[in-house]
Amino acid sequence: MCGIVGYVGYRNATDVLIEGLRRLEYRGYDSAGVAVKTEEGLKSLKRAGKLKRLEAALLEKPISGSSGIGHTRWATHGPPTDENAHPHLTEDGKLAIIHNGIIENYAELKARLLARGHRFVSDTDTEVLVHLIEEHFQGDLEAAVRQALSEALGAYAIVVLHQDREEIIAARTVSPLVIGLGEGENFVASDVPALLPFTRKVVFLEDGEMAVITPDAVRVSDLRGHPRPLRTTEIEWSLEDAEKGGYPHYMLKEIHEQPWVLENTLGGRLDEANGEVTLDLTLDPTAFDKIHVVAAGTAYYAGWVGKYLIEKLARIPVEADIASEYRYRDPLADERTLFIAVSQSGETIDTLEALREAKRRGASVLGVINVKGSTITREADDTLYIHAGPEIGVASTKAYVAMLAAMTMVAIWLGRARGTLGAEETRQLIGEMRKLPRLAEATLAQQEAIERIAAKYHQASDFLFLGRNLHAPTAYEGALKLKEISYIHAEAYPAGEMKHGPIALIDEHLPVVVVTPKGPWYEKTRSNIQEVKARGGRVIAVATDGDEDVKGDAEEVLYIPEVHPLLSPILAVIPLQILAYEIAVLLGRDVDQPRNLAKSVTVE
Ligand code: F6R
Repeated sequence: MCGIVGYVGYRNATDVLIEGLRRLEYRGYDSAGVAVKTEEGLKSLKRAGKLKRLEAALLEKPISGSSGIGHTRWATHGPPTDENAHPHLTEDGKLAIIHNGIIENYAELKARLLARGHRFVSDTDTEVLVHLIEEHFQGDLEAAVRQALSEALGAYAIVVLHQDREEIIAARTVSPLVIGLGEGENFVASDVPALLPFTRKVVFLEDGEMAVITPDAVRVSDLRGHPRPLRTTEIEWSLEDAEKGGYPHYMLKEIHEQPWVLENTLGGRLDEANGEVTLDLTLDPTAFDKIHVVAAGTAYYAGWVGKYLIEKLARIPVEADIASEYRYRDPLADERTLFIAVSQSGETIDTLEALREAKRRGASVLGVINVKGSTITREADDTLYIHAGPEIGVASTKAYVAMLAAMTMVAIWLGRARGTLGAEETRQLIGEMRKLPRLAEATLAQQEAIERIAAKYHQASDFLFLGRNLHAPTAYEGALKLKEISYIHAEAYPAGEMKHGPIALIDEHLPVVVVTPKGPWYEKTRSNIQEVKARGGRVIAVATDGDEDVKGDAEEVLYIPEVHPLLSPILAVIPLQILAYEIAVLLGRDVDQPRNLAKSVTVE
């Protein structure tokens, strides 16, 4: 969380910073600020609220210079005010810092610095770092940053600028940073989209590395000062991939990209003739007795579906865990455990720490990840990229369907190797998987029907989502989407569990979304619909095309095309994404940047 951009080169640094921050605002939008090295020294401007407030302030008071740093904040320590916005500067205004993460021992450092006469103007943990660097600075900025960081505990990505130095210094522990390489200019950012207008040649800083960045060179070392090689990577995403492409919101664009995303995730990996998937993984699928699938939020729901798929197709015990819980429960992971980390960003700290815990216990790690070069991909033994392209909308959509498609392939990979899944059954499944992009396209055609339903229910104060077996996670994901972007309270339950408590919530005011496409769960879920109806609840069903029976029980039906039951979660979530989107739009919510949220959660 928090967006970071730094620049040194021949352009006006402020323009580069603002351009980069626009593409990072999804990482936090509590405040924004820049500090730029001008001919009259460092100048800084920062504003609470969204980036456009800073842009307006910059129009009134332009700042230009050839190097600078910029930040969008997701508040941890201290409310979102102008004072707490980054960059933070020293009292003499010569040194500036931006930071993503948390400095855990900031209180102790602050007490020490106050005693030495430093004056603090914000409530942030970050401000201690700029004073600490000032304390150590004797002309060598790199050395001062290194010394200061040796005293700081916690997670951070920082970029530091000094009025008298022709360089910016970047350093990271845990929180990500990526350097963009140009000609006569160089960049640094917390995420790749900020760099795409300028360069696709990048260097991902490793955990515990720092970089000295000048217009003509980038030098990387570890935090002790030992040189490290510059490992450059070409980014495949285009600028267009990271823009709205005519849609009013990134989220809607990303929902509509799902057919293409499925094509991308599955492309080249389905070998129908031989009834195999080709995943190019080096891990041995027969080397494990159990699997732990660990993730957060939406990715966790994809992991939960993955658990059911793997257990069904590969007959191996799987536990699906919420990442923030995993590491504290003394997990029973060992050398015979495959730990699967599912993550869009590849940076979620809870997932990363769970991965490290599993590794300490000897498990092998497979990452199912979207962002190339992200920290999880570097710490995992193997990575299966989901190839969803950049996901900018804070509410995850296309990454979810890509994760589901990827987890289906992982289940087939395990099942084939372990002899629990035959070639013919796999061929059939693959034949169905090939249809998914087209079927997702057909599902999107429901948009207008869903708009009408959204108009009817958008004033409800609560929603209940129900689904059974593979569709319990679908229900949870539908509820999560709705609450995230519309702020309507939404609860999800496995459909069969409803009668054990939540049934008491049902009355004529409660819309109940029941996910019940055709599959082994169908009849039982239909009975649950009857139970809701009998108590006056208003049922919105998600059902398979041609299912006329469900119409008799439900007030509304959203149809998805017929598909193999194991693949139906990939289609059934799409109407729920659109429903959440349409309701949020009707309520006038900020769909791409819902309150209090940030994409890529890098604090625990
Ligand atoms: C929900 C959402 C979050 C993320 C979660 C994990 O719409 O986006 O719940 O799914 O923060 O993020 P990743 O997948 O980046 O690990």
